[in-house]
Amino acid sequence: MKTIIEPFRIKSVEPIRMTERPERERLLEEANLNLFALRAQDVIIDLLTDSGTGAMSSEQWAAVMRGDESYAGSVSFQRFESAVRETYGIEHVIPTHQGRAAEHLLFQAVGGPGKVIPNNTHFDTTRANVEDSGAIALDCPCAESADTQVLADFKGNMDLEALEACLAANKGNVPLVMITITNNAGGGQPVSLANLRAVRKICDAHGLPLFIDACRFAENAYMIQQREEGQRERAIPDIVADIFALCEGCTMSAKKDGMANIGGFVAVRDDELARQLRERLVVTEGFATYGGMSGRDLDAVAQGLREVLRPEYQAYRHASIKYVVNRLAQKGIPVLRPAGGHAIFLDARRFLAHIPWQQYPGHALALELYLEGGVRSCEIGSLMLGRTDPETGAELPALNELVRLAIPRRTYTQSHMDYLLDVIEAVWERRDAIRGIEIVQAPPVLRHFTGRYRHVAASTAAPRV
Ligand code: F0G
Repeated sequence: MKTIIEPFRIKSVEPIRMTERPERERLLEEANLNLFALRAQDVIIDLLTDSGTGAMSSEQWAAVMRGDESYAGSVSFQRFESAVRETYGIEHVIPTHQGRAAEHLLFQAVGGPGKVIPNNTHFDTTRANVEDSGAIALDCPCAESADTQVLADFKGNMDLEALEACLAANKGNVPLVMITITNNAGGGQPVSLANLRAVRKICDAHGLPLFIDACRFAENAYMIQQREEGQRERAIPDIVADIFALCEGCTMSAKKDGMANIGGFVAVRDDELARQLRERLVVTEGFATYGGMSGRDLDAVAQGLREVLRPEYQAYRHASIKYVVNRLAQKGIPVLRPAGGHAIFLDARRFLAHIPWQQYPGHALALELYLEGGVRSCEIGSLMLGRTDPETGAELPALNELVRLAIPRRTYTQSHMDYLLDVIEAVWERRDAIRGIEIVQAPPVLRHFTGRYRHVAASTAAPRV
């Protein structure tokens, strides 16, 4: 059939409170132009994140009822451990309450002052945990990833030369190499099996373990199946098995491709590392057979890991994101291409070309999407990243000014995507009148969460060139 449908029927619904523009103007003013300060019921379509915001299946809810809350050795943990081992083929499974707790355990064990961790691109919590241990987080994204308009199949790949250079320059100080699939910070772009194999080869040459940040592993495997030579006829679980056969361990946030609202784990092959991680686990998260999760959550993830690999689910998920990306591109609306796995990224530098980076075009655009149609998104650009020159303290621009529209799993339908397109198109039509943003007050780090902003006065806006 030509039309790809949502491969599910809806058993339970959550009403959306509809709002009109004048109310949204007032709400946004009250929130000091910070979308994180809005109440969820004041948002019509919430695309702030795809993390923990998806719908669980009837089988997952049934699994919740089966949850065994025994403190030690619960049946739920046995099912969770089996599902993780079956999916990833890694022996030691250490449950955590979410992805960053897994990162914390891992980098407290292997990081530390003087150490360097290379990654295609660290997600911000991964970077924070590497740095929290005293180590340096080094990004090695491939060159194509910098340009939102280059149509390359695997813009999430690691730059192999940059990795080699990093390993040569930091001999003896790199405890492991990490690779994030898909590359969230780089636009949800996939990493190819060929690139993963090449990274493995480099690791072998240097005697280093490879770890995978596995949050969106199934989406990455689906894009390998669809895009990589020789993979089209292969089943998604087989591709997943190939990916994880290359690594010594992984960290996972089950809030993404675990299809659950909370949960995560770190999985490792090495007995000694597993022992160390479990020793810390009991101090910071919980006993080895529940970590930071309840029995019912462990069961929901065990079931979610099976559902995420179903081909009809992946086909639908990617079709709906591709649909929006391609429609925008056809209309000449600047969007990161090709479509990635979990989100649509608008290119605000091109969308609002009259707003200089110092006036945060990504944030200005995100605010307009809310005013226009109650859509909540997230700026990933100079405002969120808040980079400064270490010598002068002056603010620096981000590589790209993006607005991320992250799509929760199994939550919105095709007509929600059509509505989203209407909203973006309406903002595009009146883009010349949109003003930049200035900071009223913000903390020095993670300022996007709590900062207060206002529009710049119309007269100070630079003319469109
Ligand atoms: N790694 C990646 C690639 C992620 O995208 C995230 C979370 C984490 C690790 C941390 O996992 O939230 O369970 O602690 N990303 C969310 C997002 C928050 O909106 O992209 P967590």
